[in-house]
Amino acid sequence: MTSDELRALMSQMTLEEKVGQLVQLDGGCFGGGDLATGPAAKIGVTQDDIDRAGSVLNVLGADQVREMQDRYLSRSRLRVPLLFMADVIYGYQTCYPSPIGIGCTWDPDAIRAGYTLVAEEAAADGCMVTFSPAVDLVRDARWGRVVEMPGGEDPYLGARFAAAMVEGFQDGLGEGRGVASCVKHFAGYGAVEGGREYNTVDMSERRFRQDYLPPYKAAVDAGARMVMTSFNTVDEVPATANKWLMDDVLRGEWGFEGSIITDYAAILELINHGVAADERQAAKLAIDATVDIDMKTNCYAANLADLVRAGEVSEAAVDAACWRVLTLKNELGLFENPYYQADALRAAEITCNEERLASVRAVADNALVLLKNDGVLPLDSGEDAPRIALIGPYADSKDIVGMWAIHANRAYSHTVREAFSEELGEDGFGCAKGCPVLDEAGMATLGEFAAYLAKGAPVDPRTPEELEAEALAMAAEADVVVLCLGEHQLQSGEAGARTDLTLPHQQVELLRRVHELGKRTVVVLFNGRPLVLEDVLPLADAVVEAWWPGTAGGNAIADVLFGRVNPSGRLTMTFPVSSAQAPLYYGQFATGRLAGKNHTGRFVTGYLDAPIDGRFPFGYGLSYHTAELTDFALSGDVVTADAPIEASVTLTNTGDVAGSEVVQLYLRDLVGSVVRPVKELKGFCKVALEAGESRRVSFTIDEELLRFWRRDMTFGSEPGDFVAMVGLNSRDVLELPFSLR
Ligand code: NOJ
Repeated sequence: MTSDELRALMSQMTLEEKVGQLVQLDGGCFGGGDLATGPAAKIGVTQDDIDRAGSVLNVLGADQVREMQDRYLSRSRLRVPLLFMADVIYGYQTCYPSPIGIGCTWDPDAIRAGYTLVAEEAAADGCMVTFSPAVDLVRDARWGRVVEMPGGEDPYLGARFAAAMVEGFQDGLGEGRGVASCVKHFAGYGAVEGGREYNTVDMSERRFRQDYLPPYKAAVDAGARMVMTSFNTVDEVPATANKWLMDDVLRGEWGFEGSIITDYAAILELINHGVAADERQAAKLAIDATVDIDMKTNCYAANLADLVRAGEVSEAAVDAACWRVLTLKNELGLFENPYYQADALRAAEITCNEERLASVRAVADNALVLLKNDGVLPLDSGEDAPRIALIGPYADSKDIVGMWAIHANRAYSHTVREAFSEELGEDGFGCAKGCPVLDEAGMATLGEFAAYLAKGAPVDPRTPEELEAEALAMAAEADVVVLCLGEHQLQSGEAGARTDLTLPHQQVELLRRVHELGKRTVVVLFNGRPLVLEDVLPLADAVVEAWWPGTAGGNAIADVLFGRVNPSGRLTMTFPVSSAQAPLYYGQFATGRLAGKNHTGRFVTGYLDAPIDGRFPFGYGLSYHTAELTDFALSGDVVTADAPIEASVTLTNTGDVAGSEVVQLYLRDLVGSVVRPVKELKGFCKVALEAGESRRVSFTIDEELLRFWRRDMTFGSEPGDFVAMVGLNSRDVLELPFSLR
């Protein structure tokens, strides 16, 4: 409908109906069940609240969505349809690797194209809005949700992926395609103190703006229709009540016109935070902060209309919020077609189809990061194939699709064992579990959620001793042992914070026993964060970081291990040597005593018992080829406001197979009005080269690239001296000086 028609519709709405648009309930509330005992009772919403609610959380399935919409509309006075929003995070039924793996592709273009496929698949099954991407900057590997972040520790990389993901999801939005993207968790959620979930975030405004806000801003600039508040505080005010953050920065400075939704029950939690005495005050704080939609509580439903009548909240605030929700519904064409693209036939046609399976496999191929290889990889699968034993708790597990792939269609995902069978034949290798992912004590740390998830799954009746004996007997017969090891799925993700970033101990023990047999060992890791691998590396001849590789994970691993694919993934987070190094990241600030030529010995920034750097730096990864950068040159040594310079370097594949490299540009501002990082990523380029081929790669360095939040909190550049660096990771770089005048 036209904007005027929409206005006319809104003018017919009662105050309660307008408030209803600001209420999101979960699907159970709409099931027509018993109000006194069902999900509605738990949050205290009435049948009237349900009949007026504006949106639904996490209900998908084309027929179910259509049916729920019909039932809802049949009870609705003005027939304003429900919006169906869901967590379609890194895929719907066909899944990409978890975002930490996606980031390691350093290929936002591939992800943009891939997320368009995700949007189509999810929309055909009833999704209208996805709560994705999450783009929180993450520098503390103790925090569980680092697994969800494509940009890892870097604001520039995060911004590039944020934009690509939003563009991918929303391709064709308004023309009947795509799903609306809700970027989250605004803001700074990745900086929770100590990595502890839901904890306080407190930092300078300069740092917040410089490092943490850019990925969200990139998502907003790319047109994200919605923003989700984060659970944490920002400057001691919870984000959900933070008027400065939501109204001044997001709406005012960035010009965001879409809807803001809370994270799960975050309005109610304002009471726990201690900034609201009760639900009424919590609702007032949130609406005053211009938060439009209350996810999963009755704070708005029970209080907003009263607050307006009491003159404590203006009706204009409710109108503005309601208008934003109606505008999105209208943009999606829901007033003409309330089901959007929900269509069971179409869903059946495109779900997990060949195009999607090929796309997720290509991305998974490129997400794997080869951390170590003494030459054992790639494995020969031909006539000279070694005898292989495939061992470990993830050798034959579909859990490798990853925990947040809640809608993944596991019928289409192959385990590593299944992929090896395609390669070597069913009897061409041995396979054994060796040990469970976690022992009993480890499982106990996961709480009741683990038991809930495991419900109905077959239980292995064998003792740990029996499992190990079987695996070691198999390993003894093999030339090469491939060990599929990793964290439990629930050891990362929401509420998956850990203080010990090593592999579960019985898995390291299994590796040690295999090593003692004198076998060549390849470790494939499944996990959601950078791990401390100090125990693992000396025992392994090769280590492949697979993250949670998604639907095509098993095949992608076979692609890389058997050399069909030359690995090209590069890390987006530094791997530590000790858990206690967290937070750890390459772009640290200069200090008065950074180790270097002027500062050696004890009195330098660092630790007595560990290096200041990690084991594997940001941007690092090996391939089956080798490569080098030579002839680094700048086209001039002075940048001015209207005259950029070009930085160029020759990349050569010095190996004997074709492969890809990520050429990375870093800059350092030598003297600023505030302390600056020792390195900042400012450009990258993924280049595919034949064996022996060379290519000149160039980057533009202009004045805009040199801007930062200055001493007076204005954003701009400062004349002075800089260093440009290029490298194939953030540690090993070539340097050249230039200045800005
Ligand atoms: C809580 C999580 O923090 C958020 O990422 C998710 O989108 C919502 N729950 C909705 O499920």
